[in-house]
Amino acid sequence: MTDEELRNMICRGLTCRIDKRKNCNEKMDQFLQRCFYHSGQYSSEDHFSKLDKKLKEKEGGRLSNRLFYLSIPPSIFVDAVRCARRRASSEQGWTRVIVEKPFGRDSKSSVELTRGLKEYLCEDQIFRIDHYLGEELIENLLVLRFSNLVFEPLWSRNHIRNVQVIFSEDIGIEGRGKYFDNYGIIRDIMQNHLLQILALFAMETPVSLDAEDIRNEKVKVLRSMRPLQLEDVVVGQYKGCTEGITSYPAYTDDPNVTKNSLTPTFAAATFFINNARWDGVPFLMIAGKGLHSKRAEVRVQFRHVPGNLYKQKFGTDLDKATNELVLRSQPDEAVYLKINNKVPGLGLRLDCSDLNLLYKSRYPREVPDAYERLLLDAVEGERRLFIRSDELDAAWALFTPLLKELEEKKVMPELYPYGSRGPEGVHYLAAKHNVRWGDLSCDDL
Ligand code: BG6
Repeated sequence: MTDEELRNMICRGLTCRIDKRKNCNEKMDQFLQRCFYHSGQYSSEDHFSKLDKKLKEKEGGRLSNRLFYLSIPPSIFVDAVRCARRRASSEQGWTRVIVEKPFGRDSKSSVELTRGLKEYLCEDQIFRIDHYLGEELIENLLVLRFSNLVFEPLWSRNHIRNVQVIFSEDIGIEGRGKYFDNYGIIRDIMQNHLLQILALFAMETPVSLDAEDIRNEKVKVLRSMRPLQLEDVVVGQYKGCTEGITSYPAYTDDPNVTKNSLTPTFAAATFFINNARWDGVPFLMIAGKGLHSKRAEVRVQFRHVPGNLYKQKFGTDLDKATNELVLRSQPDEAVYLKINNKVPGLGLRLDCSDLNLLYKSRYPREVPDAYERLLLDAVEGERRLFIRSDELDAAWALFTPLLKELEEKKVMPELYPYGSRGPEGVHYLAAKHNVRWGDLSCDDL
């Protein structure tokens, strides 16, 4: 690519958040003029020396920092880091590296990767990105909990009967078979994105908002959780189906996936946190591709009102009468609380209704993309939303024995039709812990 081609490519996705009157176009042009294309081999120190020379020309002797963003296959992370460290580090400023998951396939490979990176970098220079931590609603989780009086006192086993962390996509693997078949949904979504949300949700109040204080609390929660066992989990894989004149592919139709692949495209798992706050509360985690809808949300189902005066008005299904708090990150960010309300009129009829904060109505300005926030944080050296190596170890410890067992025992995933709600087995898993999966009663917003 030439510099011009690179700039045209960037330009297609470039936005500017400053006020129009402040010359957005001019700012974007200035930015584009600072973008240059340079090609080389990831593992060649000579090529990195050439990159260093080019950077020095552009830096023109000014104090400059360097941030390497490794959007490359993990097998070459360490090589690229070695070359960058030895030949292209900043001489007076800082040098940082952003790495994208997967951070290994299990505890052992993750430790090896960390060891490899730490041969050339110290922990403070490594920014392990999990883009779900940059999502607006996930950032808001802490604000909601810790800056409102009404939620935190309810945030425990005394008032919450279960928590559901849900990720569902209405698309399949879309040509990513080579990567996906080697990892599967548990490593792709659960071990990182959903577990991070769960840790933020369940952690104790940190001493401060500093990165180390927050990450210390997250590690404590992860270490209080019991590693998953086979009976805590349901795995599934989408199969092809035809609806009218449209046919949807099976997972194994991908040219890079073997016909008898056992890789799960869906998984549901129940976690328990063995601490005083959460003892006995099931955390149901669900992740799937090729499902009927695209959504990412946390649902908190509260306990029944003891001695509820209105019991007979709810009929037999008291489940419908409990409160539920939903934090929806995708699609259309929203926070809503399901409450019981009197239907206006002379009689006494109760209805489940919503206290509803829909972001697009309340905050019409565009919500920044998760990566936007995280890249800016890395530039500013803010580590709060990046994963520390001990967090990563604790996260893998929860999944590694299960992943090993699934692979060794060649556990067959339950097939579910593309575009459906996933395997039936989830309902049984949820029922085992008295959890009703999904929304309780009101129609979703
Ligand atoms: C990635 C996974 O980390 O997250 C993908 O590798 C998944 O499989 C994607 O599709 C989902 O991200 P988002 O932001 O579209 O929900």
